[in-house]
Amino acid sequence: MNIPKHIAIIMDGNGRWAKKRLLPRIAGHKKGVDTVKTIVKYCGKIGVETLTLFAFSSENKNRSDEEVTLLFKLFLSVLKKEVKKLNKYNVRLKIIGDMSLFPIDVQKMATEAQILLSNNTGLTLIIAANYGGQWDIVNACKQAIIDGVAADELNEQTFASYLALQGNTVDLLIRSSGEQRISNFLLWEVAYSELYFTNTLWPDFDTGELDKAIESFNHRDRRYGGRNE
Ligand code: IPE
Ligand code: IPE
Ligand code: MG
Repeated sequence: MNIPKHIAIIMDGNGRWAKKRLLPRIAGHKKGVDTVKTIVKYCGKIGVETLTLFAFSSENKNRSDEEVTLLFKLFLSVLKKEVKKLNKYNVRLKIIGDMSLFPIDVQKMATEAQILLSNNTGLTLIIAANYGGQWDIVNACKQAIIDGVAADELNEQTFASYLALQGNTVDLLIRSSGEQRISNFLLWEVAYSELYFTNTLWPDFDTGELDKAIESFNHRDRRYGGRNE
């Protein structure tokens, strides 16, 4: 089995999972965290190099104040609780997105966790928080301009080095919950990704579901615009 080097996941369906059980939306987000733990551990075990998870989009701040506040709290408590275990699993952590929206204590914890885990050599776990693919591209343009990059120096490689993922492209993009759209997740990086959609809601997603996605990936003929003759 060929294991994709970089898997990215749009973790969707927490709200619907909760609604089906007449629970508040946050109950779905909490259950979704359990899935994250399972999938992170499993990706490390099977030798995935990079796992990028969409946790909070640039547009998710438009949800109710109550949901956004509870999500920030959940983010903080998960970071606090899980950082030791991530260290034990040799996971390196990188958070991408405009973290300035987050409360100061969350920002501080996020910085501390990334520093603590920075020398690890196992799975690279990237969490997209207040992230938008369009924001990332505009931000990259700004940085390139600030650096004084000349127009004729700019090409796909130099430009990508200014993006949050610095040119690390996605092999397999998974979205749970039945929606078949990108919702402003990684844009540049999915240019040649294989896409996999499942109706399973994120809190119900498990290692068996990931195996199915990887199995499907193994049957794809990746041509990159060329011919595999
Ligand atoms: C995904 O689940 C998690 C976040 C966007 C934070 P949703 O909250 O979007 O769940 P649905 O789509 O309403 O079911
Ligand atoms: C995308 O899901 C964002 C995350 C999973 C974090 P949304 O639920 O916000 O996307 P839309 O609104 O269905 O496109
Ligand atoms: Mg959703």
